[in-house]
Amino acid sequence: MISLEVNGKTYRVDVTPDVPLLWVIREYLKLTGTKYGCGIGMCGSCTVHIDGKARRSCQVPVRNAQGKRITTIEGLPEDHPLIRAWIEEQVPQCGYCQPGQIMQAAALLSEESNPSEDWVMKGMEGVLCRCGTYPRIKRAIRRAIGGEQKGISASSLGAGDWDSAMGKASPIGDGFSPNASLLITPDNIVTVIVGKSEMGQGVSTSLPMIVADEIEADWKQVRVKMAPAREEYRDPVWGMQTTGGSTSIRHMFWPLRKASAAAREMLVSAAAQTWAVPIHECEAYRGTVRHIESGRSLTFGQLSQKAAKIPIPPNPSLKKESQFRLIGTSMPRLDVPDKVNGSAIFGMDVSIPDMLYAAVARPPAYGAKVISYDREAAEKVTGVRTVVDLNRRIAVCADTLDAAWKGRDALHVMWDKGEHPDLNNETLERIFVQHLHKKGKSAHNRGNVNRAMNRATQKIEATYILPYLSHATMEPMNCTAHLREDTCKVWVPTQDQSGVLQMVKEVTGLKPQQIHVHTTYLGGGFGRRLESDFVEEAVRLSKATGKPIKLMWTREEDMQNDFYRPAACSKIHGGIDGKGRLIAWVHKLVAPSIFSRVYSQMVKNGIDPAAVEGGVGMKYEIPNIHLEYVRIDVPVPVGFWRSVGHSHNAFAVESFVDELAHATGKDPLEFRLNLLKNHPRPRRVLEVVAEKARWGKPLKKGHGHGIAQHFSFGSYVAQVAEASVNKEDGTIKVNRIVCAVDCGPVINPDAVTAQMEGGIIFGLSAALKESVGFARGGVESENFHNYEILPMSQAPEIEVHIVKSNAKLGGAGEPGVPPTAPSIANAVFAATGARIRCLPMKPETIMEMIKKE
Ligand code: FES
Ligand code: FES
Repeated sequence: MISLEVNGKTYRVDVTPDVPLLWVIREYLKLTGTKYGCGIGMCGSCTVHIDGKARRSCQVPVRNAQGKRITTIEGLPEDHPLIRAWIEEQVPQCGYCQPGQIMQAAALLSEESNPSEDWVMKGMEGVLCRCGTYPRIKRAIRRAIGGEQKGISASSLGAGDWDSAMGKASPIGDGFSPNASLLITPDNIVTVIVGKSEMGQGVSTSLPMIVADEIEADWKQVRVKMAPAREEYRDPVWGMQTTGGSTSIRHMFWPLRKASAAAREMLVSAAAQTWAVPIHECEAYRGTVRHIESGRSLTFGQLSQKAAKIPIPPNPSLKKESQFRLIGTSMPRLDVPDKVNGSAIFGMDVSIPDMLYAAVARPPAYGAKVISYDREAAEKVTGVRTVVDLNRRIAVCADTLDAAWKGRDALHVMWDKGEHPDLNNETLERIFVQHLHKKGKSAHNRGNVNRAMNRATQKIEATYILPYLSHATMEPMNCTAHLREDTCKVWVPTQDQSGVLQMVKEVTGLKPQQIHVHTTYLGGGFGRRLESDFVEEAVRLSKATGKPIKLMWTREEDMQNDFYRPAACSKIHGGIDGKGRLIAWVHKLVAPSIFSRVYSQMVKNGIDPAAVEGGVGMKYEIPNIHLEYVRIDVPVPVGFWRSVGHSHNAFAVESFVDELAHATGKDPLEFRLNLLKNHPRPRRVLEVVAEKARWGKPLKKGHGHGIAQHFSFGSYVAQVAEASVNKEDGTIKVNRIVCAVDCGPVINPDAVTAQMEGGIIFGLSAALKESVGFARGGVESENFHNYEILPMSQAPEIEVHIVKSNAKLGGAGEPGVPPTAPSIANAVFAATGARIRCLPMKPETIMEMIKKE
C-alpha cells in the first residue's frame, strides 16, 4: 500500500511502487486533469507540483512521492490568477496540454513573482502545445503577473455540457425539439446539440452562437451537448457525420439558421395563440416572446410545450445581418473553463466499471509478421487476464494499465523483417526524386506551356522536397469500448462518428441503433482522428474478452502507426518573357494518394484532388500552366493532415513565386500583386498584411521579411514572416509573423484569430522541426525526442488581421498553415541569400548554403 497526499487529501492505493505517479493520479485516484503526452518527460502534459515544485509525474515512481505534498490542476483554487488569466485570454484550443501549462506556470510564478519574459519562456519551454496556443499562454502569464482582469470568468459564461460521454448532460427528449440540433425545455434551458467534434477549433461555441442568434435566445440560457452518432447529425454536404476540411461553419451555417428561424417562428406563434393576438404583433427577444403593444412576455421555456404542437414552417424568415447579436462578436468559448480547471473529459479520461486495460504489441516494420511470442510469460504477470492475437498485433488485457504494459513487455514478440526491410530515409527520398522522371497525369492545363517556354527569354527551375509528417496530437489515440450481446458502447475522441459506426457494425454485426458512440473532447485531431483503426482494436478486444476495454496507445505507438502527411517532391519550371512577365509555369508533383485508400471514388482520371490541391487552383494569372501529377506508391500509409495537399504545394508554389520575383529583380509583393490583377480578395490580404508588417521598411541588420499567400478551404490567407539566421550555427529565429485572412463572414472573430495563430505555429513547427524518420522497413521516430515539435521559446509574436468580407463563408481551421513555411523560407532568403528548398529547414544545410554565398 502506498500512501499519498494529493490536493490536501490522503489516499492509500494498492499499487506497485515503481508505477509512475502520473498513472496513479489518473487511473487510481481518477484525477484526470493531469495528462499523458509522452511518458518520457518531454511534453510536460503530466506536470504536477510536488512540495511546491513543478515535476513531470510520468518520471516520478509513486514510491518517491510518498510523504510529499502533491498538487494537481484540480487542487488549484478556481480564482487562482493563472486560471482566471487563462480564461480571460481564451488560451485553450483542444485543451489537452493546458493543465500541464498552468501547473508549470504556477510553479514558476511561485518562485519569482515578477519574472522577465525570457525567464518565463525558458521555464515554459518543456511544456508542448500541439495546437499552438503559445502566444496566448504568454499573454495569460503576463496578465496574471500584471493582475489585470477583463471580467470573463467561468461563472459569467453559459455552459458547455460537452460531457455527454460521462452522462452529465441533460437527456435529449422532453420539451420543444423542432429539429435534431435544438431542445428547449420548460426550465427555460436552450440545449444546442452539436453534431461536429470539438477538437480545439471552437465549434462547440460557434455553432450554438448561430442557433442562439437566429432563434433569439439569451446566451446565458444556452447549453451545449455533443450529438450521438445518428443519421440526423450527418453533415448536409458530405452525408457523413464527420468533422474535417474546415467545413463545420461552412456546411452548417445556413441549415442551422433555417432550422432555428423555424423554431423562432413556432415560439412566436405559440405566444400569439396564448394571447390571441396576431403573430405580427409579437417578437422573439432574448429568450422570450413579447407582445409589443401590451408589453406582455413569456419565456421560451413557458412556450416550449405549446410550440411543440405547431407545424414547422417550411420557409421561415431569417434575421437580417444588422439584427445579429452574437454572430460576428468575439464570444468566450464555452469549453474553455473546463479545459482550464482540468474537468474536461477527453477519451483518455474515460473510466467505466469493470473495464480492463489493453496494451498492444505492434510490428516494428511494415508488413512484419509474428515469428513467436511468450503468451505464458505474459499471462503470469499479476493482473493480466488474457492475451489476444489480433493478427500481426498481440494484445494483453489486464486489470490495471501497469499490468497490461508489463504483460506486453513479457510477450517478447519476435518479428520477421517485414516486407520492405530496405525502406529508410535515403531510399524513400531517392524513390521520390526518381519519380520526377516518370510520366504522370495532367491535373491542370491552361494555354500552351511548350510554346510559351520556347518564347521565354529567362527560364528558371527549382525542386522542393518535403517529408512525411506525423499528426502527433497531444492526446494519443485511444478508445473505450463495451460490447454486449445486443449493444455496443464506444467512448472515443473521433472526428468521424460515421466511420466509427461503420467500423463497429463490421466488427460486431450489430445494427446502427444498437451502437452508441459517445464523442469525448478530442486532444487534437488534425485529421488523424478521421481514422478508426484504434476503435477497431478496442471493439475487437471487448468482443474477445467479453469485458469493457480501455485501450490507450503510447506516444510511441501513436507516432509509429500514424497515417502520415504525405511526403512530396515538386519540380517547377518558370518561363519569363522579354518584358519580365511570367508566361509559363510547369509543375511536376510526385506525391502519394490519400484518397485512393479512403474515398477512391474521389480519384478521377488518376488525379487525387488532395495531392494536387493548392497547385491546382492557385490564383495567379499565368497564361500558360501545366501541372502533372505522378502518383507514388510506397508502404508508408498516408492520411489527412491539417491543410492536406495545400501544406506541401503552398511551400513549393510560394517559394517558387519568390524565386521568380528575385530572378526578375522585382519586389516579391509587387510581383504577386501583378499576377493577381483580377483577383481582389488575394490582393487585399496581401495589401493588408504588407501594410501591417511594414513591408519594404528597413529591418534590423541580418533580418529579412518573407511574404506568401495561399487560398485554401474557401479562405485567403497572406503572411509576412520576419526571420534572422544565426551565422554561427545556422539556426533560424522567426521573430514575428503577421497574418491577414479573408474567410468571408465571421461567426466568432476570436476563434478565427486563435485558429490562425494555431495554424501558424503548426506550420512553423513543420517548417523548422518535423520529419518522420524511417529505418529498417518501419518508422524510426518514436517520441518527442526524435520527432521534435515547436517549443514555446521558438514561438514568434503573431499578429492576425481579419479582413472584412461579405464573400462566401470560408474555413478557418486549416488555411493558416500553408503560407507559413514559404513565408519563412522567403524571409531566410531575404536575410541571408540562402534559398531553402527542403523541409524541415535544417541549420546544418543553411550553414552550408550561407558559406557558399
Ligand atoms: S512529460 Fe510526462 S507525459 Fe510527457
Ligand atoms: S491546446 Fe495545447 S495541445 Fe491542444
